[in-house]
Amino acid sequence: MKIGIYGGSFDPVHNGHIAMIKSALKSGFIDCVIIIPSVRNSFKLYSNKLPPPYRYYMMKETVEGLGLKNCYVSDVEYGIEGVSYTAVVLAKLTSDEYIRDFLISNDVKRKKAEEHHEFFWIMGSDTLGSFEAWYKPGEILNYASLLAAARPGDDTDVEKAKASIVKNLGGRVEIFRLNGVECSSSEITGSGDFTEVPEPALKFIRKHALYTENTKLEGVSDEARKSFFEYAVWMYGYLGGKRLLHTLNVGYLSAHLADVFGCDKNKALIAGALHDCAKELPIEEQTELAKRYSGDLFTEKKLLHSPAGAAFAMEQLGIEDREILDAICYHTTGRGDMSVLEKIIYLADKIEPSRDYTDLTPIRAAAEKDLDSAMRMTASSVRDKFVSQGRDIHPMTVLMMKELGM
Ligand SMILES: [Fe+2]
Ligand SMILES: [Fe+2]
Repeated sequence: MKIGIYGGSFDPVHNGHIAMIKSALKSGFIDCVIIIPSVRNSFKLYSNKLPPPYRYYMMKETVEGLGLKNCYVSDVEYGIEGVSYTAVVLAKLTSDEYIRDFLISNDVKRKKAEEHHEFFWIMGSDTLGSFEAWYKPGEILNYASLLAAARPGDDTDVEKAKASIVKNLGGRVEIFRLNGVECSSSEITGSGDFTEVPEPALKFIRKHALYTENTKLEGVSDEARKSFFEYAVWMYGYLGGKRLLHTLNVGYLSAHLADVFGCDKNKALIAGALHDCAKELPIEEQTELAKRYSGDLFTEKKLLHSPAGAAFAMEQLGIEDREILDAICYHTTGRGDMSVLEKIIYLADKIEPSRDYTDLTPIRAAAEKDLDSAMRMTASSVRDKFVSQGRDIHPMTVLMMKELGM
């Protein structure tokens, strides 16, 4: 097959990106497109608005929602340590085994997936001029040809850049016509005008309350912000999409609540983001981890992931801050004498933006004003649920409720 590869931040994906994909597919040079939302882009390390998993799943839902045929979204960059330079990404993606398995997992017939493939790196004509300054451009051209989009009127510069690349580096450069709107992600987020964001992406953005004041992370240290991004990538290896986005949403909301109720915003972001990190580990592993953090305090299967998460974060990420670890450990049950941070994580877990198990409007409103009142409302709905399911309420939860005056 002739495979186009289109990398970008997609922060957020917009109609200009979609036009690029559609025009490339129509150009006749390629049969399909693999889209790669960046993880640690060399140009924008940690400066993206959103951590990688949001941008990956937003792109997946967009491709699916728009019904784009022969388009596949790749997570290849999650397996690369350090900066995901194009040359490094292409080395991995274009290897026979990797590309075969990737195509098969995207429902491409095995026979086709095992063919010899030709690769084309799709890019805007505006970046063609600077291509020679990229990291190992000669190596990039060994893996793929360049497929550059030209708008009507772009011709002179594009031809000049093409001639220079061919002369200096060899390789193949093809030009295709781009039809469609011109827009930029930073202009969209800067202006707040999301008109050029396709509907499925918009739905995703609304569901998770992205590109809002809360996701700007103002007042969060560079170090905590960087950790948040890195932990998001790390958790991608352990959690499915829905749970990963949930746990990250809790990070954002906890950071906001830390502002409202005056506690450490950096700790709230990290504790919130990691609170469910162990939830999809095999139950035996959860049991062992939980024991290492809190002995026999938790025995019920559903509760194990909380202390296990604290141990997992401690052992795998080297987090030693007890306040963060305890907030993770007690996020499901609560306990007596809870810190503000622990209450925030407990609460944010139940009401983050994508939660819709019941009408959360009153609790969300309370959470902007009175922490204990929001806690009481949450705990009371948890109690109702337990009673209706005939489950015992953990003694620590009983203690928490008592202290809240319930
Ligand atoms: Fe949980
Ligand atoms: Fe959770």
